[in-house]
Amino acid sequence: MENLKLKTIITEKEIQKRIAAMGATLTDKFKGKEVVAVCILKGSFVFFSDLIRQIQCDMVCDFMGLSSYHNKSYTSGEVKLTLDLNSTIEGRHVLLVEDIIDTGITMNYLQQILEPRKPASITTVTLLHKPEAKKVDCTVDLVGFKIPNDFVVGYGLDYQNHYRQLPYIAQVENLN
Ligand code: IMP
Ligand code: MG
Repeated sequence: MENLKLKTIITEKEIQKRIAAMGATLTDKFKGKEVVAVCILKGSFVFFSDLIRQIQCDMVCDFMGLSSYHNKSYTSGEVKLTLDLNSTIEGRHVLLVEDIIDTGITMNYLQQILEPRKPASITTVTLLHKPEAKKVDCTVDLVGFKIPNDFVVGYGLDYQNHYRQLPYIAQVENLN
């Protein structure tokens, strides 16, 4: 892997502080309810594992695989479902956990395939949101951090499947 020049834009401490606050908000929201928490693979596995431990409620965890980037740093606009849920969500409260909303295409696709399954509710949470990159509408209920329209890695986010293990979010400074 080529050496990318990285600049930290959100530190590990800042991420953990924000996740504790998001967890408290979701704990309040889901009081007395059973939640199906859905990790959207691959990018959100790190955020998901930290976030769910900050939510106190009755919860089951499930996983969905979606791919949209096809190993490039730009979106192809095409989303592929690589793994579907094991759980039936009809009549249940669903918490969708995403790493980043960029163009909105992935989340829009996901909401379109989940709504016909008739969940009682869908709550969408994302760690990062790039409002300037928006191409299509999607519903987002809770955002960790709004960031500029630059490519970032770390804390689950990758460049060609690398850098997911970094405990912070860094902007890539030398990507063309
Ligand atoms: P969208 O469909 O354009 O909103 O993009 C959603 C997916 O693209 C995310 O779940 C990420 O996997 C990936 N993605 C978008 N922006 C970035 C980035 O800056 N770094 C790494 N992955 C990204
Ligand atoms: Mg993702």
